[in-house]
Amino acid sequence: MDKEDFKKQAGEEAVKLIEDGMTIGLGTGSTVEYTLRKIGQMIQEGFKIQGIPTSIRTKRIAKEEKIPLTTLDEHPEIDITIDGADEVDSNLNLIKGGGGALTREKIIAYNSKKVIIVVDDSKVVKALGIDFPLPVEVVRFGWTSTKKTLEAFGCNVALREIMKGEPFITDNGNYILDCEFDYIENPEQMEININCIPGVVENGLFINLVSEVIVGSQQGILTLEKEKTVV
Ligand code: 5RP
Repeated sequence: MDKEDFKKQAGEEAVKLIEDGMTIGLGTGSTVEYTLRKIGQMIQEGFKIQGIPTSIRTKRIAKEEKIPLTTLDEHPEIDITIDGADEVDSNLNLIKGGGGALTREKIIAYNSKKVIIVVDDSKVVKALGIDFPLPVEVVRFGWTSTKKTLEAFGCNVALREIMKGEPFITDNGNYILDCEFDYIENPEQMEININCIPGVVENGLFINLVSEVIVGSQQGILTLEKEKTVV
């Protein structure tokens, strides 16, 4: 079994938490794609749910799978969101945004009664930032100044590009700055500090948003749980 098998295990396990009639936040990435494909099979078998996609990529997959779609504006109460992550720590805090969808993902997670994260075991880390740079979505205007401000937090900052000289553009029309730390000592404070910088739209630290993490591993499915803090 390899990493792809672990992603599939976790992604498919998550559908067991879905009940008929639910409104579901549909996350972004290759792990949650297994969830979306499985939901597609359930729809064919007569299951009735509606999904709110967190990205254009996920919307396309959901349409392929004939998952009925709605919007957060039409359905502001989401029963459950299933999404992937780039890093998970022991408090179930996350780094997300490897796919560049962090802003919509965070809005959807924040407005969900339950947030379920699906990962393979390589994503579980001792400290956030240790393996994966923190993605920060920024408006294009003045982005080099925003980059300098972020560098003052002691990280190396790179503009995300799809190829040399061609910046990655988010679904919201913005840039992503990837911030490489040794590790993030105080993720709660860092999330707040970064979001105070003018020009920052959102950052990929997800703090106290997650209810449960489903981990695919050589040992089978592991479940990490924590009560969601209501803000
Ligand atoms: C997209 C994300 C993804 O959920 C995260 O990057 C994990 O993706 P994958 O399951 O492909 O590793 O945050 O913005």
